[in-house]
Amino acid sequence: MASYLVTGGAGFIGSHLAEELVRRGHRVRVADSLITGKRRNLAHIPGVDFLEGDLADLSLAQRAVVGMDYVLHQAAIPSVPRSVKDPITSNRANIDASLNVLVAARDAGVKRLVYAGSSSAYGNTPTLPKREDMPANPLSPYALQKLVAEQYGQMFTALYDFEVVAIRYFNVFGPRQDPGSPYSGVISLFATALLEGRQPTIYGDGEQTRDFTYVANVVDGVLRACEAKRAAGEVINVATGGRISLNQLLRVMNGIVGTTLQAIYEEERAGDVKDSQADITKAKMLLGYEPTVPLEEGLKHTLEWCRSERATSAVPGGR
Ligand code: UD1
Repeated sequence: MASYLVTGGAGFIGSHLAEELVRRGHRVRVADSLITGKRRNLAHIPGVDFLEGDLADLSLAQRAVVGMDYVLHQAAIPSVPRSVKDPITSNRANIDASLNVLVAARDAGVKRLVYAGSSSAYGNTPTLPKREDMPANPLSPYALQKLVAEQYGQMFTALYDFEVVAIRYFNVFGPRQDPGSPYSGVISLFATALLEGRQPTIYGDGEQTRDFTYVANVVDGVLRACEAKRAAGEVINVATGGRISLNQLLRVMNGIVGTTLQAIYEEERAGDVKDSQADITKAKMLLGYEPTVPLEEGLKHTLEWCRSERATSAVPGGR
């Protein structure tokens, strides 16, 4: 049994990590500001030690890491358009807080920190799929912030011999992804629209593509990154290696729900990436990772969860 701190553990991906760690018999502490996270995401997980507060406050980060073997740093304000609108708030959450967590974890003797990086760091690359050795080209404050914190992590490994692994996520989706904000992930917004019989919105022509990754795949990749021998100081894509356009995604989701709702097309979003698809060779080599849940199966689980949430009439956006 080991001790894990999951920052942002009351959020979508963080709560899945906490759940799997508890299932495997580990001790879990969650630190979360509840700005985007919700306590109810953890309600079904027994024995989680919960610390509420802002990691941009160093003293909170220092309290959070005490006695921890591993830190899974997931806390962030995860939205491209939100960062375009308010770069200062997202900078504080995505860079200042990350530096605090790195310093606190290093000083507390944590064995390894696994950081939630983002595919957005690549921007528009001339070729697909995107490999970790391609130059970064951030197109939004969010992308730049995720890249900076990732580079801080690599520097901490080189400079202080503190083990940090950055996992680059590619459009993660699944149960507990909050559809309650215009900044929510597109799959959660499409799911809610279809289940309510509304037309979803597509920004741009819908021909942009994404490597949508079901959350269980990411949980597997991140937990492998805690143990993998040659992973310290590395940046590693964790995704499926495929891609699908938004127009195609909507067709697949309509098919699962049994609807034929057409999109309403609006202007393309500022800072949006055109195509995103991961090369996952490095994750296979270093982590022994293989995606286990394909897109359509993940969409079915997600839609089932959305349906059951609506049936129990949970308050959208509630704590
Ligand atoms: C980006 C990152 C992703 C990261 C996420 C955090 C890339 C390629 N991916 O996701 O790794 O986890 O930020 O927020 O940079 N859209 C619609 N209709 C909607 C909502 C969105 O058409 O109602 C479009 C967006 O314009 C975009 C695509 O759907 O083209 C995906 O958007 P979203 O789910 O917000 O994620 P990204 O910005 O791609």
